[in-house]
Amino acid sequence: MKKVRKAVFPVAGLGTRFLPATKAVPKEMLTVVDRPILQYVVDEAREAGIEQLIFVTGRNKGVIEDYFDVQYELNDTLTQRGKTKELQLLDSMQPTAGHASFTRQQLPLGLGHAVWCARELVGNEPFAVLLPDVIMQAERGCLASMIDLYGTSGGNILSVEEVNPREANKYGIVGRAGDVGNGFKIDGMVEKPKVEEAPSNLAISGRYILQPEIFDILETQERGAGNEIQLTDGMLKLADAQDFFGYVFTGKTYDCGSKEGFIKANVAYAKADDAIWSKVRDDLAELVG
Ligand code: G1P
Repeated sequence: MKKVRKAVFPVAGLGTRFLPATKAVPKEMLTVVDRPILQYVVDEAREAGIEQLIFVTGRNKGVIEDYFDVQYELNDTLTQRGKTKELQLLDSMQPTAGHASFTRQQLPLGLGHAVWCARELVGNEPFAVLLPDVIMQAERGCLASMIDLYGTSGGNILSVEEVNPREANKYGIVGRAGDVGNGFKIDGMVEKPKVEEAPSNLAISGRYILQPEIFDILETQERGAGNEIQLTDGMLKLADAQDFFGYVFTGKTYDCGSKEGFIKANVAYAKADDAIWSKVRDDLAELVG
């Protein structure tokens, strides 16, 4: 079984829910406590052993490429000022030369199309996809746990979470068959089903391990829900030939593409940092009442 070495981050989304901020700042670069949303997602990938970061960007996303580059002048100034801690922080997050690649999705045609844009950079090996506005907080990262499952199951793996059945129409929903290791066999999936037609209340939550055969399918995938080329529709076709497994994530998920998720993430990550939490907890308690 080939190791999962590469991860695709589809970062081309417009971020309309965060206008006007996203007129000038990509939504993935909005800050949760002290770092961009995207940094949390990249950290999760690196914890899982991912070596190659592949960003599918779009127009107005140039700052993402700058963020993952070495900022020579900044490092020089920090060195002159003896800011060792800050230098070490930047260094610990720096992708090494050649380990971050960028390609553009030229038109906003959907998640399936964005993933397909990475086909030449991924090549013929299994790969991960991490939705860049979903932060997943857990002792052991979601993707690392999925790679554990992959070690015994192989195939394709999707992270899933229980959602309110009345909200099934906001997600890709999977059907659940028998248990396999710390996951289960998926039978059926549907993108944004009508509430009464959802096969379960298990929603695809934003982490995927996929086999490269998905690319040939996505190449000719027609538009689906929302008139977009949907990854879920491509995966459903691949499921005719290959196994799909679900991994039920038990940590906390923050959809930072929504205002409520973004605000909750800021509070949750502030709470996880004693130095900050000790300074804000009383004020927050008072505000919340
Ligand atoms: C995407 C996926 C969907 C998944 C969701 C999770 O939808 O297409 O299957 O459940 O992310 O956030 P989107 O939120 O881009 O509409």
